[in-house]
Amino acid sequence: MTLEGKVALVTGAGGMRGVGRATALKLASQGADVAITDIRRPADDLPPGEVRSEWQSIDSVADEVRGLGRRVLPIYADLSESQQIEDLVAQAVDHFGRLDIMVNNARAVIGRDKVPVTELDEDVWHHFLSINTTAVFLCTKFAGREMVRMGNGGRIVNIASNAGKQASADGAAYSSSKFAVIGLTQASALDLAAHGITVNAVCPGPINTDRMSYWERDQAAQRGLTQEQFRAQIVSASGERTPLGRIAEAGDVANLVSFLAGPDSEFITGQSYNVNGGLLFH
Ligand SMILES: NC(=O)c1ccc[n+]([C@@H]2O[C@H](COP(=O)([O-])OP(=O)(O)OC[C@H]3O[C@@H](n4cnc5c(N)ncnc54)[C@H](O)[C@@H]3O)[C@@H](O)[C@H]2O)c1
Repeated sequence: MTLEGKVALVTGAGGMRGVGRATALKLASQGADVAITDIRRPADDLPPGEVRSEWQSIDSVADEVRGLGRRVLPIYADLSESQQIEDLVAQAVDHFGRLDIMVNNARAVIGRDKVPVTELDEDVWHHFLSINTTAVFLCTKFAGREMVRMGNGGRIVNIASNAGKQASADGAAYSSSKFAVIGLTQASALDLAAHGITVNAVCPGPINTDRMSYWERDQAAQRGLTQEQFRAQIVSASGERTPLGRIAEAGDVANLVSFLAGPDSEFITGQSYNVNGGLLFH
């Protein structure tokens, strides 16, 4: 229970098989109380498994956290709105009286970005930068200010990606947004070091989540497959390409977040660590 007495705020925590939920539960299992946030997604933006099982986003995750005996505050907010980000940090601090760990995990729903740069819609570009980068900056700014004010140090963990180190075709918006997170991580680490606040990034390769992807939904329809059947093919093919023989589970990523959020990582800052089964080495 290395996080006993600590309070964490995790963004994008409502997905039934997402990294945010796995992280919230991992931190809670280590003793932290957690504020969890997500946007209220329309049914069209939900993975089929969540619709089928009537998953209730951060309300369902909150029940699980309570089941672990920890306190929890679910907050619905849209990270494209800076005022909502400032408010959600304030709500978490008001509710728990402190904030020790900020995990920036949310990202824009993927799929519409998966085109060559010459076809990339400017609105899609701005949306990706807004959720994947600007919201990380604003959460760092507002949560960092609270951590500085309280004087207890702190931990900020940004979920970047392999795509933040090595771009792929049809990935201009996503890769740019994640490369920027790595730069933001390094600069923030330097700005906050004197306050005992570390800032690190985690860079996963492909993860076996049920993330919503408009591209996967369209490709499945074109092939006469369900979205889940098509997704299973991608997961299997990616696993075969991975040296360790499978793609990451959400828990693999949560395990590193938990280490970077805990006391054993106190001398590590500004770093960007891969969780990718050996796919990429820098
Ligand atoms: N899934 C992968 O294969 C993979 C690979 C590498 C990196 N990552 C990174 O890991 C993290 C988690 O991935 P995932 O697949 O669990 O995530 P995901 O695609 O399920 O999305 C995370 C959450 O962000 C939320 N979100 C979307 N728009 C929002 C908005 N405007 N305001 C607030 N919340 C919003 C979604 O509702 C969702 O719950 C992300 O940062 C992602 O970029 C994922």
